[in-house]
Amino acid sequence: MVNVKNIVVIGVGLMGNGIAQISLMAGYNTTLVDIYQGIIDKAVASIEGGLNKLESKGVLNAAENMARMKTSLDLSSAVKDADLIIEAVVEDMDVKKKIFKTCDENAPPHAVIASNTSTMSITEMATATNRPDKCIGMHFFNPAPLMRLIEVIAGEKSSDESMEIGVKVSESLPCLRGDRYIAKVLKDRPGFIINRLNAPGSIYSSYLLDQCLEKGIPFESLDADYGSGGPMSPLVLSDYTGIDTGYHVRNYYAETLHEDFRPGKVITKMFKEGKWGRKTGQGFYDWSKGRPQPDFSKIQKAGLADLRIGLAIRLNEGCRILEEGIASGWKVIDDANMAGMNFPGPFEYGIKNWQGLVKVLEEFAEKIGSEYLKPCELFKSGKFVDMK
Ligand SMILES: NC(=O)c1ccc[n+]([C@@H]2O[C@H](COP(=O)([O-])OP(=O)(O)OC[C@H]3O[C@@H](n4cnc5c(N)ncnc54)[C@H](O)[C@@H]3O)[C@@H](O)[C@H]2O)c1
Repeated sequence: MVNVKNIVVIGVGLMGNGIAQISLMAGYNTTLVDIYQGIIDKAVASIEGGLNKLESKGVLNAAENMARMKTSLDLSSAVKDADLIIEAVVEDMDVKKKIFKTCDENAPPHAVIASNTSTMSITEMATATNRPDKCIGMHFFNPAPLMRLIEVIAGEKSSDESMEIGVKVSESLPCLRGDRYIAKVLKDRPGFIINRLNAPGSIYSSYLLDQCLEKGIPFESLDADYGSGGPMSPLVLSDYTGIDTGYHVRNYYAETLHEDFRPGKVITKMFKEGKWGRKTGQGFYDWSKGRPQPDFSKIQKAGLADLRIGLAIRLNEGCRILEEGIASGWKVIDDANMAGMNFPGPFEYGIKNWQGLVKVLEEFAEKIGSEYLKPCELFKSGKFVDMK
C-alpha cells in the first residue's frame, strides 16, 4: 500500500483550511491550492493562528508544522508529487470533474484523488479520470479539526486499496475534541450516511412551516416547540446555514431521491425574496444586529412539532440506509451521527419502541400524502434490530 507523505488540499475555504491544518498536524507535507491568493493568505493565517494556540498549550511546535506547508495557485504543478489529493472546492459537479481531470493528468499514477463533497456522486467525478479505482470520497464535518467524523466513501469503481488508504489517513488526522471516528460508506448514494439520515427531516420541516403559514402562526412559535436544546434552535440554525442552501439541498434530493423533498411554500418564498438568513441579514429572524437570541420561555408554542414523528422519520431513513447497503450496521449510523452532528442517532432508542414508531409514521405519511415518508420494508419488519 502507498505510504502517504504528501497531501494536496484543493480549495482552502471554510472546509479546506481545517482539513489542511489537521493534515499538517498529522505530520504530512501539505500543499494548499486555491484560485485566489487572498483566500490562501487567509487560510495560512488561520492555520498559523490555530497552531500557535495549540503550541501555547504545549500540544505541538507551530514552526515545525508550518515548515511542512506549501501553497500554490497552479494545480497542475502542485500535484506533481502528491500521494493523496483532497478536493474541497465549491459543490459543483462540473468544477469538481475538471479538477479530477487535471489531477489525473498531472499527479503520479499511484496518487489517490478524494472529494470532500457533502452529497455528490464520487462515481461520476471518477469518470473524468483514467483512474476510477483511485477515486474515493473523504467527507469531513465542519469544522474538520473539531468534528470527530470522517466518512470514507467508495465509488462504484474504487479499489479496496484506495479505500484502505482513505481510512488509514483519516484515522491519522487528529481531532481536537475526542477520538476520530471513521465511517466506511459502502455505496455511493446521495448524502452518504449522515446527511442522508437527516435529509427527510426537511420534508417534515417544510410541512410544519407551511402549516404555520396557513394557520397564521409566527415561525418563532414553531421554534419554541423545540426550544434551544442544542447550541441553536432549528430555525436559528436554518438561518445560520442559509435558507438558500436549504432550498438547493431539498431540490437536489428531490432530483436524486424523491419528489417529496421539493421545498415547500415558505422556503421557496423566502429563497425568492432573498431572505437567506445570516448572510443577507434577514431570514426567519433578523440578523442585522448579530445572532438572534430568542427567549423561548416568553414565546408561545405553536404546538405543531411532534418529536416522535421526527424520530420515526430518522429511524425509517436509517433503515433505508441499511436496506440499500450504504452502512454495514445500525451501530455505525448511530456512532457516526454522534461523531458528526453531536447528537444521538435514532437506533439506540428506536429499537426499543419501533412498532409504535412505525404506526406513528404510517399515520403521518398518510395524513400529508407523502410516499417517501411511508415506513420502508426493513423498518416495518423489525429485522433491522439484528443488523447491529
Ligand atoms: N461547509 C460545510 O459545512 C461543509 C461540510 C462538509 C463538506 N462540505 C463540502 O466541502 C466543499 C467546500 O465547501 P466550503 O464550505 O469549504 O466552500 P467554500 O466556498 O468556503 O470554499 C471553496 C473554496 O474553493 C475554491 N475554489 C473554487 N474553485 C476552485 C478551483 N477550480 N480550484 C481551486 N480552488 C477553487 C474557492 O476559491 C474557495 O476558497 C463542498 O463540496 C461542500 O459541499 C462543506
